[in-house]
Amino acid sequence: MSHILLITSSPRGADSLSSRFATEIAEGIKVRSGGTLAVRDLAADPLPHITSAYIHGRITAPDIRTPEQAEAVGIAQELVDELKAADVVVLGSGMINFGPSSQLKAWFDHVTWPAVTFGYGDTGPKGALTGKKVYLVTAAGGVFSEGVWAPFDFHTNYLLHLLGFIGLTDVELVRVEGTVFGPDAAKAAIANAERAVQALLAKVA
Ligand SMILES: Cc1cc2nc3c(=O)[nH]c(=O)nc-3n(C[C@H](O)[C@H](O)[C@H](O)COP(=O)(O)O)c2cc1C
Repeated sequence: MSHILLITSSPRGADSLSSRFATEIAEGIKVRSGGTLAVRDLAADPLPHITSAYIHGRITAPDIRTPEQAEAVGIAQELVDELKAADVVVLGSGMINFGPSSQLKAWFDHVTWPAVTFGYGDTGPKGALTGKKVYLVTAAGGVFSEGVWAPFDFHTNYLLHLLGFIGLTDVELVRVEGTVFGPDAAKAAIANAERAVQALLAKVA
């Protein structure tokens, strides 16, 4: 039995394909493994941007933090605790201007925390959140997995880099891409993603 954390981050609400498929994966795993599910919708419940209070607060001992610093660090601590508690993380992200939404960027800015979620060892950076399975669903209007736009994939590549940086290296990726080239292309992209999701779920015990 595993504890699943579903994180969605698209500002497109009910139209979001990354949220749709990430939710399908999380609920599918829950049904198959009998696990528990926590949901964080970063678009419905956005985080603040990080501030000077957060940056100074996290290098200040808890007992001498200002109230503003304590509040800012408390938000990050809650997010890190939520992440640590999960055995499985399912993350949905739609491409916004070649990167993730600012809502998801704000989440990474809180959980990418020196000495807490990553450190530096003799051989370079070392992520702390090891041993978790991650399912990443990225959605984009264009095609970035191959072809002329592949060098401009600052979305999926960025997410894979940051997840790995904090120790989340065991990642299954589902891309919903090429939805912008008309209804037939969108239908095919969605059908491809659905097949990929079903194939992943078939592997869940
Ligand atoms: C504000 C905005 C910016 C977007 N920027 C890009 C982009 O830079 N490249 C791209 O291929 N698609 C872009 N798209 C299309 C989205 O990536 C596409 O609709 C995707 O499905 C969004 O993910 P979601 O379905 O989870 O919301 C953009 C869409 C919006 C609304």
